[in-house]
Amino acid sequence: MSGKETIGVFGAGWVGLVTAACFADLGFPVIVRDIVAERIAELERGEVPIYEPGLAELLERNRERMSFTVDVTDVANEADVLFVCVGTPPTYSGDADLSAVWAVIDELPPLKRRAILVMKSTVPVGTGEKVRSLLNARGLTQIGYVSNPEFLAEGTAIDDFVNPDRVVVGSFAKEDEERVCALYEQIDAPIVRLDVASAEMVKLASNAFLATRISFINEIANVCEVTGADVEQVAKGMGLDRRIGPHFLRAGIGFGGSCFPKDVSALKQLAGNSGYHFQLLSAVIDVNELQKRRVVGKLTKHLGSLAEKTIAILGLTFKPNTDDMREATSIVLGSRLLAEGANVQAWDPMAHRDSYLHGARFCDSVLEAVQGADAAVIVTEWEELRGLARDEVRKAMRNPLIVDGRNLLDREQVRAAGFVYECIGRPGEAISEPPEVENPDSEPAR
Ligand code: UDX
Repeated sequence: MSGKETIGVFGAGWVGLVTAACFADLGFPVIVRDIVAERIAELERGEVPIYEPGLAELLERNRERMSFTVDVTDVANEADVLFVCVGTPPTYSGDADLSAVWAVIDELPPLKRRAILVMKSTVPVGTGEKVRSLLNARGLTQIGYVSNPEFLAEGTAIDDFVNPDRVVVGSFAKEDEERVCALYEQIDAPIVRLDVASAEMVKLASNAFLATRISFINEIANVCEVTGADVEQVAKGMGLDRRIGPHFLRAGIGFGGSCFPKDVSALKQLAGNSGYHFQLLSAVIDVNELQKRRVVGKLTKHLGSLAEKTIAILGLTFKPNTDDMREATSIVLGSRLLAEGANVQAWDPMAHRDSYLHGARFCDSVLEAVQGADAAVIVTEWEELRGLARDEVRKAMRNPLIVDGRNLLDREQVRAAGFVYECIGRPGEAISEPPEVENPDSEPAR
């Protein structure tokens, strides 16, 4: 026996599997429960159903300490600390859908010993209170409740778990707080102990603040474009101020992913439901939506009407090193281009090709995507795209225009290689030839 508490994890999704594998690696026995039998069977066979760098290795290395089940009673019987890592996707109203959380609470059988339910999933402020009441109403008073939000970013999740900036532990009872803090003993990070509602708010406010920084720098970028400043230099100059810091000041064509869009909207909605209009977050969302569409203006500036033009979209996932397409900028941008009548040729090294961008042609290589293209748009900053401005690409394109939505390339090098180059937050290039259509606005959008 390890002498360590047994950890139960509800939800074998991205957060659940990273949490489970990392605790197992710290020496804890871990039992993971998911309602999808197929997923559990895969995990039992040693297959990893999601992509996260290092996760497969971690699961493999800790196989003897981990078990997988569909049966909630297995977890209830064996585990002392029960992590809730189920999805809380947005509903049509922008509120978080907590049905998977309630399902876990409803299914919990009575326990003979004191166990703790630990909320990792992102939930609205006030959820902990509701869970507490629900547990009490079911007579499960011996189950403690702690809020311990995750701050994992895709692509670096394992490192984020092992080397966090902080661990947030919000509790109703001191003894539960101590037990959860003890799980993180081997992690070298400050532990922030606070009440449950504040812990819930730390998570939402942190993501909303980071999203605000991105929308802020994107607006600065837009102003730079019309005033002659360079946002890259501006961000560097701002970031050296210790009160500001350098992070999340990369201008681009908007944020996506499973967290920022959802959490910003959930916080706005939470405030609204409580009678407060969170004006700033409305602007953060609006700016982000407009930012995704600004590329269209950069394209029409050089190409005139986009009808029948061929546009290569390079990168589809919401950021590199993931296969995650949730809220990816490429979906909005690609759909806009298709609506303008453009032929879209898309490339991405990891994205699955189903269920989005109907009408686009998916290509196996960058070279195939730029073949005959009137413009190539960098949407996701994949490493493979650093070498985009090369001869064979220029020759393959019908028109050598690169729109760099992530400021990935070196402007001077790209221009020296014979491309017309547009990026974000730096004055654009003068138009060498007038667009074919004199007034692009007169083209009806389809
Ligand atoms: C984020 C948070 O970082 C993490 O703490 C939280 O738990 C979940 O949400 P993630 O969504 O994986 O993680 O990605 P992140 O690397 O934070 O990027 C989010 C989006 O913002 C991406 O679309 C990225 O391209 C964009 N971004 C990020 C910018 O446009 N500019 C920046 O400076 C940083």
